[in-house]
Amino acid sequence: MKTRTISAIIAMIILVSTNVSARETLAKATKGKFLMGVAINMQQVNGVNPVESDLIANEFSAVVAENCMKPQPTHPQENKYVWDDADKFVAFGEKNKQTVTGHCLIWHSQIGRWMFVNDSGKDVSPEVLKERMRQHIYAVVGRYKGRVKGWDVVNEAFEDNGTYRKSKFYQILGKDFIKYAFQFAHEADPNAELYYNDYNVETPAKCDAIVQLVKELKAAGCRIDAVGSQSHMHMVNPTLEATETSFKKLKAAGVHILITEWDVSILPSPYDGANISASFKYSKEMDPYRDGVPADVQQKWNKRVLDMFGLFLKYSDVVDRVTVWGLNDAGTWLNGFPIRGRMDYPVLFDRKNQRKSVVDEMIKMAQKTKVKK
Ligand code: XIL
Repeated sequence: MKTRTISAIIAMIILVSTNVSARETLAKATKGKFLMGVAINMQQVNGVNPVESDLIANEFSAVVAENCMKPQPTHPQENKYVWDDADKFVAFGEKNKQTVTGHCLIWHSQIGRWMFVNDSGKDVSPEVLKERMRQHIYAVVGRYKGRVKGWDVVNEAFEDNGTYRKSKFYQILGKDFIKYAFQFAHEADPNAELYYNDYNVETPAKCDAIVQLVKELKAAGCRIDAVGSQSHMHMVNPTLEATETSFKKLKAAGVHILITEWDVSILPSPYDGANISASFKYSKEMDPYRDGVPADVQQKWNKRVLDMFGLFLKYSDVVDRVTVWGLNDAGTWLNGFPIRGRMDYPVLFDRKNQRKSVVDEMIKMAQKTKVKK
């Protein structure tokens, strides 16, 4: 009897402790510090694999669409809008009581060429492009008014050296295209937060250019709540120091910070940027972990993730959201970028949808951090 009682107690303890650990999530541990988000695809929205949809619902407090709200899918032709996927995505986030972010309104990639040309294929005038931008932004932001908390209004307007990217928007309208985009977005939903988003924000020249842009937008009376740092990271770059320096500069500029597209590639890299048109040739040397990641490499990756997450927590007075770019290693865009057909391991759930051990460490770190907001 006694032994049975003891075993029953032990069984109960095991049950309770596994349940408790199953209940601990990044979403809960980061509550009050920042939102913990994930980028999701349409299969996940549609529940093709219910395990994935449940993980997204339970482990994260915010969602962003990996593709379906971009200019190309929502506005493939002039006067033609396609809302099915974006509508479902927003409803998915609402059903799960998650904060929904809009990504993205004005970007040189994933946008129909029609936006920039007239019937004879020539560049449109500045007036026409400005009006097309207005229509696009009013339509998308207006449709989800009050439901999307904030928008990546302009994505990737700078080169790494801090000069303006010579995109079609820039060529036709000059740098004012950014100001117009923020004005239109604010008119379409005055309560929505507005963000400027870019990769390699840790690069000093680029960070300085973004700070200057923030100042100019504010001086022009525009609303800008935060700068989104995509944070597509590698094993060495950006360094912790460079990342912290960029946070200090942004904080001093009076904007909040969002980690909008976090992933940490474990693979060797021929390119440190995230311009999606970059592409390099496949070789086996560039794809070393097809049969799994060696323990020492995995440890380095874990440390890198924890170092960065610790920094995000340290700045949680100004970091409002940390969003991982993709749920699991099977679906990460980095399996195809910037080299096609590789096997990367850059996010928090593995190819079998198991939560990586580093997440438990992250949760502990977050729990130890005092609420700063
Ligand atoms: C990527 C998506 O993850 C891919 O599925 C798609 O094929 C290309 O775009 N910077 C951004 C994101 O702002 O929108 C990009 O997402 C990754 C780089």
